[in-house]
Amino acid sequence: MRSFRAAVLHAPHTPVSIVPVTLAALKPTDVLVRIRAAGLCHTDLEVIEGSLRYPLPIVLGHEAAGVVEQVGAAARGVKVGDHVVLSWNPHCGHCFYCDRDAPILCEQYLGEGPKALPFDGESRLSLSDGRMLQQLMFLGSFGEYCVVADQQAIPIPKEVPFDRACLIGCGVMTGVGAALNLGAIAHGDAVMVVGCGAVGLSAVQGARLAGAGTIIAVDLDPAKLELAGRLGASVGVNASSEDAIAVARRETAGRGVDVVIEAAGSSSAFRITAEAVRPGGQVIWLGKIDVNKDVSFRWGSLMQEKRIRRVSYGNARPRRDFPLLARAYLDGSLVLDELISRRIRLEEINDGFAALKRGETIRSVVMFD
Ligand SMILES: NC(=O)c1ccc[n+]([C@@H]2O[C@H](COP(=O)([O-])OP(=O)(O)OC[C@H]3O[C@@H](n4cnc5c(N)ncnc54)[C@H](O)[C@@H]3O)[C@@H](O)[C@H]2O)c1
Ligand SMILES: [Zn+2]
Ligand SMILES: [Zn+2]
Repeated sequence: MRSFRAAVLHAPHTPVSIVPVTLAALKPTDVLVRIRAAGLCHTDLEVIEGSLRYPLPIVLGHEAAGVVEQVGAAARGVKVGDHVVLSWNPHCGHCFYCDRDAPILCEQYLGEGPKALPFDGESRLSLSDGRMLQQLMFLGSFGEYCVVADQQAIPIPKEVPFDRACLIGCGVMTGVGAALNLGAIAHGDAVMVVGCGAVGLSAVQGARLAGAGTIIAVDLDPAKLELAGRLGASVGVNASSEDAIAVARRETAGRGVDVVIEAAGSSSAFRITAEAVRPGGQVIWLGKIDVNKDVSFRWGSLMQEKRIRRVSYGNARPRRDFPLLARAYLDGSLVLDELISRRIRLEEINDGFAALKRGETIRSVVMFD
């Protein structure tokens, strides 16, 4: 039995506490990863704020990189000492959706996901009083260690520093993948990205890599727009003072943009996307709000053959995509350094979430030595 420190949420709207947790013996396909860096994503914040509901207590964190410390007897595709980025989309490989090449809709993934337990339903972690702990998104990576299924630990080149590698596990995969993996962006297209946090800034870079002609970045924060400009955006729009829809039309002879990627997670941003896209164009929603809330649209904004798609994890195939993204970082075509606003200790995680909520950071990354 091993004990280590992890960030546990006991109740919504309360601070996350750093407590010792106990690890059960590894199952045959389990992999134990010593976490070296873990990013604070908006999704973790949504769990803290209660707009995304999971059983509690839970270990938060789902964007991480580390070193494989131990593997179960039947674990495949990964070995002790590998540097890995963790994927939050384990899938069974043989259900209705897996057969149709949609691992993000895997029946087992969607069935077990809301329970925040591994596929076999047995938690690997407990509190010191013996109470069972849930693991957010099959991970729970805000801890010194994380137990995952072998398919979730994806080896990447060791040259990529852990603080940058961890971002690949959620924000970067989601944003770059939305731009590259759906085949939505054609060479020369006009693309708008609404919301320039880690996900949106990654979408801006994905649009650049896809050969977009014009990239319009929309945010409420001038600093994020300035960074979007350095990462590939040709036009910046501050939605608090400028009309993003008018800019979309101005840049496209009145048509509207070919593709809009939303990464803001707000009703007003969803509305902008539908208005700013041209007839026949494609809207990709990545952000989310409370699933029980309504969002209203002007009906006319949804007409004219517009294609609207909500996408999770950028259509990721982690075993293919994570090493690709790591190599794109190493060859300079994908910028990750500037997505890191702060490096913090696990004990500073509540300050990190407060800064994310205030919009002060792109990513705070928890560093473990
Ligand atoms: N689809 C997925 O798989 C997936 C994965 C990770 C995150 N997400 C979601 O994507 C969204 C972005 O995540 P993040 O970690 O980059 O969050 P973030 O908070 O760092 O970034 C959001 C950005 O949107 C901007 N914004 C907010 N309202 C806006 C508006 N009305 N118009 C323009 N800009 C606005 C904010 O200023 C901020 O820069 C969140 O909703 C998150 O839950 C989805
Ligand atoms: Zn995330
Ligand atoms: Zn499946």
